[in-house]
Amino acid sequence: MQVTLELILSVLMCCFVRFSSQCSNYGYPFENHLATITPYRIVSNKSFERINFEGCTPKKIWLMARHGTRNPKYSLIEQMGSRLPQIKKLLLDGGSLPNEFIRNRDLDLLNKWKFNMDPDKHNKLTHEGEEEMLVLAERMQSRFPQLFDEVYSNTSYKFKYTHSQRTQKSAYYFTAGLFGKATAKDVWFPDPLKKDPILRFYKLCDRWNFEVKKNPAAQQEVRIFESGPEMEATIRDVNKRLNLKENILELDDVKLIYEMCSFETAWNKKSKSPWCAVLSQDNIKVLEYAKDLRYYWQDGYGHEITYKQACPAFRDMINFLQSKNRFPRVIAYFTHSGTILKLLAHLGLYKDSEHLTGKNYDSMGDRQWRTSLIDAFGSNVAFVVYGCGSEDKILTLHQENIVRLPPCPDTDLCDLSLVRDYYFQSLDKCDFTSMCRVH
Ligand SMILES: *[C@@H]1O[C@H](CO)[C@@H](O)[C@H](O)[C@H]1NC(C)=O
Ligand SMILES: *[C@@H]1O[C@H](CO)[C@@H](O)[C@H](O)[C@H]1NC(C)=O
Repeated sequence: MQVTLELILSVLMCCFVRFSSQCSNYGYPFENHLATITPYRIVSNKSFERINFEGCTPKKIWLMARHGTRNPKYSLIEQMGSRLPQIKKLLLDGGSLPNEFIRNRDLDLLNKWKFNMDPDKHNKLTHEGEEEMLVLAERMQSRFPQLFDEVYSNTSYKFKYTHSQRTQKSAYYFTAGLFGKATAKDVWFPDPLKKDPILRFYKLCDRWNFEVKKNPAAQQEVRIFESGPEMEATIRDVNKRLNLKENILELDDVKLIYEMCSFETAWNKKSKSPWCAVLSQDNIKVLEYAKDLRYYWQDGYGHEITYKQACPAFRDMINFLQSKNRFPRVIAYFTHSGTILKLLAHLGLYKDSEHLTGKNYDSMGDRQWRTSLIDAFGSNVAFVVYGCGSEDKILTLHQENIVRLPPCPDTDLCDLSLVRDYYFQSLDKCDFTSMCRVH
């Protein structure tokens, strides 16, 4: 009770006495602004209800999922372990905290904060990630009991993951959610490929690697934004809030704080990361935009080759759903952010009328391309084919929510023939080798 009261009071103080943008994050929604480090629980649809359509029966499902919440990559663990303790010391030794933004409670948390992750644990699936996959499977099974048999059979199910611990473990916990942990140990998986043509097609696309992924010019909008007025104000703001003189914390520090805030929020449902308290909601939105920009120009609508090359995955989906074979009934692939985003863009989902640029932060406040929502850990896209009399129709789910594809803006179920017509290029003109050739 006391905690609640304190929270309400501080929120009221903060909102009405000061500008709300100056407030620290306690009591403010910031969890859905953590870009690609957002935990799945923030965006998932937690309903267990069956999805039924009158006169239709589900026949098959194709699912592409990003692995669950993981550890940071090697270099980021090193940075977090070396720079953040320095920043912590700077704040605690400064003697000017607490102040009206950083309160005693935040300082206590910061005091207790430590980070001693072994860099060898980089990119590993975490406990939260295991749970994300487990409950995703449970909910999908209860929505589509006709498809997700509780008894495992190697013919009804096809699972596949990429060559990585996080996707392998994600696949395992997904099957544990379907069949229980004991049976999950016996599930058969094909050997993972380093460059899987369906699960991670972009590893095989030289042109994309050359023109986009490894081309600094492809990311110029990020650089424009990161040296622009919004980011400058954010850096100034953070230093000011911490009573630090002359912008001691620089862009990389503020970005690092945002990463730690994001990861700790993803890892721990119950406790707050002290690093989130350092950032106001406005700061977080600016940092989120910088990441949205990066993924927009790397894995999204920024360059045509990026989303065009997803046709093999799209074709795999259509071929499976329209095939007359009754088995397998379920295909589930465990992969990465890069695949999910390129697939979403290939489908034409979450497309804004203008490009995201380094200069249009203000007008993009309501943008559709928000990685926090569309590319959280565990993000997934699923297609279910229903037999409706003599017709086949497709239901599309993203994060377990029904979404409508461009060919069917007015109905949840889309005629398979309309999908085929609308995306005919992806089916008939999918010459991956030639589109990915470096000119
Ligand atoms: C979750 O999905 C169901 C369909 O299964 C839908 O009716 C419901 O509106 C969704 N919930 C949210 C919060 O979007
Ligand atoms: C499962 O099926 C695949 C073909 O889809 C086959 O290659 C594999 O050997 C089977 N595994 C077992 C354990 O039966």
